[in-house]
Amino acid sequence: MKILILNGPNLNLLGTREPEIYGSKTFEEYFSQLQFQFQKMELGYFQSNSEGDLIDKLHSSKEEGFDAVVFNAGAYTHTSIAIGDAVAGISTPVIEVHISNVMNREEFRHVSYISKHAVGVISGFGLKSYELALNSLH
Ligand code: DQA
Repeated sequence: MKILILNGPNLNLLGTREPEIYGSKTFEEYFSQLQFQFQKMELGYFQSNSEGDLIDKLHSSKEEGFDAVVFNAGAYTHTSIAIGDAVAGISTPVIEVHISNVMNREEFRHVSYISKHAVGVISGFGLKSYELALNSLH
């Protein structure tokens, strides 16, 4: 099984960005751990701060051979109709993940343009949210 982990804006700053909310590990460190933990899966990783790049990556996920996408769209989750449309428009299943519990935070984070088109949503377990998503695909 080949899975794409797709991270949106500001997630390249993990490790130093608001560590009280997002922890102090960089995603690169965590990704190596995931690759070790899920050796039976082929994991790909892509991060972008640009909405269009994230949409392009969702569009090409099938031709790149990905069976599913574990997607943390960051703040675009709450603002981007275009990203929601991209998730709706592809046949590759998408699992929406968030490090923090978005329902526990500001009201503007309670809206997601992705959830309706995702197979499921995992939010609030720290970086472990990604592991839980991968486990659900096992
Ligand atoms: C986030 C939650 C979003 O509200 C926020 O804008 C992020 C990260 C999370 O993983 O908890 O950038 O998606």
